[in-house]
Amino acid sequence: MNSLTALSFLFPLFLLSFLTGYQGVEGLPIRHPWPRYRHPWPPYRSKLPVIGRGHFFRPMRPTKLFVFGDSYADTGNKNITEGRAWKFPYGISFPGRPTGRFSDGILLTDYIGRTQFYFYMTNIYDLPEIYDNIYTRNIAARFLMLKTPVTYHWSKFGSRYLNSRIGMNFAYGGTGVYNTSDNDPNMTDQINFFEQQIKDHLYSPADLNSSLALVTLSGNDYSNFQEKNPDGDILGFQFNLTNQLKADLKRIHDLGVKKVAVATLQPVGCLPTVTVSNDYKKCNDSIEMLVSFHNYYVTTAVADLNNQTNSNSSFVVLDLHNGFMSVLTNGTGFPKFEDPMKPCCMGVSSEYNCGDMDKNGTRLYTMCRNPREYFFWDSVHPTQAGWRAVYTTMLPILRKILFF
Ligand SMILES: *[C@@H]1O[C@H](CO)[C@@H](O)[C@H](O)[C@H]1NC(C)=O
Ligand SMILES: *[C@@H]1O[C@H](CO)[C@@H](O)[C@H](O)[C@H]1NC(C)=O
Ligand SMILES: *[C@@H]1O[C@H](CO)[C@@H](O)[C@H](O)[C@H]1NC(C)=O
Ligand SMILES: *[C@@H]1O[C@H](CO)[C@@H](O)[C@H](O)[C@H]1NC(C)=O
Ligand SMILES: *[C@@H]1O[C@H](CO)[C@@H](O)[C@H](O)[C@H]1NC(C)=O
Ligand SMILES: *[C@@H]1O[C@H](CO)[C@@H](O)[C@H](O)[C@H]1NC(C)=O
Ligand SMILES: *[C@@H]1O[C@H](CO)[C@@H](O)[C@H](O)[C@H]1NC(C)=O
Ligand SMILES: *[C@@H]1O[C@H](CO)[C@@H](O)[C@H](O)[C@H]1NC(C)=O
Ligand SMILES: *[C@@H]1O[C@H](CO)[C@@H](O)[C@H](O)[C@H]1NC(C)=O
Ligand SMILES: *[C@@H]1O[C@H](CO)[C@@H](O)[C@H](O)[C@H]1NC(C)=O
Repeated sequence: MNSLTALSFLFPLFLLSFLTGYQGVEGLPIRHPWPRYRHPWPPYRSKLPVIGRGHFFRPMRPTKLFVFGDSYADTGNKNITEGRAWKFPYGISFPGRPTGRFSDGILLTDYIGRTQFYFYMTNIYDLPEIYDNIYTRNIAARFLMLKTPVTYHWSKFGSRYLNSRIGMNFAYGGTGVYNTSDNDPNMTDQINFFEQQIKDHLYSPADLNSSLALVTLSGNDYSNFQEKNPDGDILGFQFNLTNQLKADLKRIHDLGVKKVAVATLQPVGCLPTVTVSNDYKKCNDSIEMLVSFHNYYVTTAVADLNNQTNSNSSFVVLDLHNGFMSVLTNGTGFPKFEDPMKPCCMGVSSEYNCGDMDKNGTRLYTMCRNPREYFFWDSVHPTQAGWRAVYTTMLPILRKILFF
């Protein structure tokens, strides 16, 4: 883990140093072909308020979610030999063992995958609680699971029929739009996999026409660029990068996906790997400046793509940056965090990361007692609770996205 030098870069080397592995336990949804929404669900729908427009409306169906990106979205695509997210203490909060997710539990993909379920269930502001209660009581857990798309990696071992019934997650932690220093599929490759599945008739045009794609890009391209070109033209690179991202978004849409949601770059300057130098008190403004340029380009690209496709809703921005910031600085979202900038699990020194051990099995990291009280899990990734808080700040836009 040579990320010691990382802090000397404008963008720290971060997600790259988090390598993972195999399919998550939660990928098991494919075991049960639940007849989703063929019958109105839940049966007691009439007792529960449906959030929306005063009249009953169907959610988009069959609600397939396709996911592209990096560790902010990966639910277990990386090879188990690649490490970290397949190691203790990842997954410690849920399900109690590592699942290949870069979190102590579930993450963005899982929350978004379950949005539709939530809207049927209950009032918008009760969602997280209801979710936890259901979860801990293990009621309908299997149903919930269905909403997380199967990972691409796992799909190869699953039944074709069952795979075709749910969406698929092509995201690999540590990757970017361009090649990064770990050799997992870049975004072009991820979309190629998707295209191949379509060519193999796993998904019909009608399926795609009612589907949502989620694209995350959390900064691995930047760290890779700066690792290779410490004095490189970062702004020029940023321009190229966001253009390539735009081309990728367009390609996903051109493959037939009705709606493409792209995440803005999270506040990289506020990640623990950066703020560790000031005891997790203050975000780095110069990094945040670069982040804001990135997000400006992304927003512009989305507007432009919508114009090109003659709609103002085929492409949407999922504002992760705002979601993170409103939790970190405004204390909005649910749950609340006492000291949201402070991570739960950190290496004992900057050479080490959460989960590292020496040859004798001695831990080279420290972990908080209760990850549920922390926003950040490790030096760059939110906890399950953190993702939940971010997710709750994005519910209004998700509602718009999902009920088209
Ligand atoms: C912000 O990050 C840059 C690049 O890592 C660094 O040069 C600068 O000193 C940092 N600023 C503060 C206030 O820490
Ligand atoms: C995972 O790693 C093992 C051992 O390095 C290797 O044999 C296997 O082919 C890898 N699998 C994938 C999907 O890359
Ligand atoms: C992604 O990787 C493939 C090879 O795996 C390469 O052909 C392609 O050019 C890469 N995409 C970008 C945008 O660099
Ligand atoms: C990306 O990496 C792949 C191998 O993983 C390589 O074949 C390809 O040429 C690389 N593409 C670029 C643009 O560097
Ligand atoms: C996609 O759905 C819309 C209605 O939402 C319909 O007008 C259009 O023809 C469909 N396209 C395909 C390819 O099924
Ligand atoms: C951006 O792309 C242009 C054209 O492909 C290329 O000439 C330039 O070197 C790239 N800039 C950076 C910093 O990668
Ligand atoms: C879309 O693009 C056209 C041509 O470039 C331009 O005239 C028009 O104002 C744009 N519309 C919007 C809503 O941006
Ligand atoms: C864009 O959105 C506005 C407001 O939601 C709507 O009134 C308008 O019809 C939409 N335009 C297109 C081209 O979809
Ligand atoms: C924080 O709250 C203030 C006042 O309500 C609001 O103006 C600002 O936009 C919020 N910031 C974020 C990042 O949500
Ligand atoms: C591992 O344990 C042995 C014997 O107790 C000790 O000599 C060695 O220094 C230890 N190695 C590390 C990396 O702690």
